[in-house]
Amino acid sequence: MTGQTKYYVTSPMYYVNGDPHIGHAYTTILADVMARYHRLQGDNVRFLTGTDEHGLKVQRAAEQRGVEPKQMADEVSTTFRALFDRLGLSYDRFIRTTDEDHVSSASEMARRMVESGDIYKGKYEGWYSASDEAYYDESEIEDGIAVATGSAVEWVAEESYFFRLSEYQDRLLEWYEDNPDCILPESRRNEVISFVESGLQDLSVSRTTFDWGIPWPSDPEHVLYVWLDALNSYFTGSIAHWPADAHIIGKDILRFHAVYWPAFLMSVDLPLPNHIVAHGWWTNEGTKMGKSKGNVIDPVPLLDKYGLDPFRFYLIRESPVGQDGRFSETRLVERYNTELANNIGNLVNRTFSMVRSYLDSEIPKMPFVMLDKDRNLSSRCLIHLREYRDHMDAYRMSKALSTVISLSTVVNRYLQDRKPWKLAGEDEVRLKEVLYWILDAIRLVAVMLAPFLPETSSGILGALDDDLQKLEWGYLNPGVLGEFGVPFPRIEED
Ligand code: MSP
Repeated sequence: MTGQTKYYVTSPMYYVNGDPHIGHAYTTILADVMARYHRLQGDNVRFLTGTDEHGLKVQRAAEQRGVEPKQMADEVSTTFRALFDRLGLSYDRFIRTTDEDHVSSASEMARRMVESGDIYKGKYEGWYSASDEAYYDESEIEDGIAVATGSAVEWVAEESYFFRLSEYQDRLLEWYEDNPDCILPESRRNEVISFVESGLQDLSVSRTTFDWGIPWPSDPEHVLYVWLDALNSYFTGSIAHWPADAHIIGKDILRFHAVYWPAFLMSVDLPLPNHIVAHGWWTNEGTKMGKSKGNVIDPVPLLDKYGLDPFRFYLIRESPVGQDGRFSETRLVERYNTELANNIGNLVNRTFSMVRSYLDSEIPKMPFVMLDKDRNLSSRCLIHLREYRDHMDAYRMSKALSTVISLSTVVNRYLQDRKPWKLAGEDEVRLKEVLYWILDAIRLVAVMLAPFLPETSSGILGALDDDLQKLEWGYLNPGVLGEFGVPFPRIEED
């Protein structure tokens, strides 16, 4: 491992009050894309996902089902895991906040916060939303509803331990200031800064009116506030890789990650995460998804119908990280046809079938020289590659994917201009040159696609017998083109 760059990425820990939907799939796919991208570069990658199982929200959901919270957690957590496997998510650990190592680490964290003098006992009196697992100020409530989320709140009055969050205001502001990309995209960072500038109140970090949680160290009448518990799973999940390079989250849980979590870490003297990346919210054709509305989008039937890669493709491509996305199956099919079937699929298909029929499936050797008239293609490859890396490194996964599509367009154009079908039988040397450059560009496109479309990418690279998967240009070795069927056949709409 020595000399390797470590890269640690996390998804949020999902509540086990109900089955996973498209929003959960999206967050985790984004984290998966980053994990795969860093593995491509040979980094020592750790990718953590899992479930957030304690707290009032889960306890109540279990009561409604008439089961014990742990039983509900076991069931729902299994469903999440099954979906994540189906989504091809390359996580290294699926942590559950009921896992023993997490329970002891979270309570150790609380103990250290006590030790650093940041905890005092008091009484919390105010609003709480079980659905958001969040405390709200009077000014954030209208008619019994938290304005920001639309969730119902209830009045809570109970003994509780408080964390001196107010004392961390300056240090937090300094952190945002000194690390301009600690919260991405920038608009989210500004939002956090103005929230913190408006003043921070101490935070209640324990509860006493229910018991589904981790006992407070040396005061088991209290359980840890579920966010203190769950956030700590990032640390438990890979102490060896700490600090995290990126926490991928939705915009709704930004405050917990960008304010509470760094303050907790400061309190116990642990390094802070490098990036908190907040994405937008998916709606069902513009309408907020909700169980009561019955419009929650289940990824499974979509995976059955369209397959893994097209599903992942659509989610990442459709909305730039940070912006909200309108889920629409019609759009999915449109994007599939124009960008996957007609562009990438067509390029691979035409090229592979020409190699089969004109070259008897032989992948030619790299040409001795690159002619000036072919240099445009190589420079486009390099430019697109650089752009792709820049986007990926800045967590603009959707833009990185568009860059791959536009590279594929460039290669299609080169193919169209060079007309290998005219060279066949007339100029074998030139034919081989042209097909070599196209195949190498396809190889590059496939490597760039690897984080996004793992199945298609490995199909193409398998046919090209490329086990190097170099994110570089000019790496294709001669050999025999293997089997690979039509990627992305067109979907004919009814
Ligand atoms: N348990 C907390 C996270 C704790 S992390 C230490 C939680 N869980 S959640 O299951 O409610 O949500 C997890 C993630 O799913 C969040 O990042 C949230 O943004 C994301 N999504 C849930 N619904 C979503 C959409 N409709 N669209 C996009 N993402 C959404 O919060």
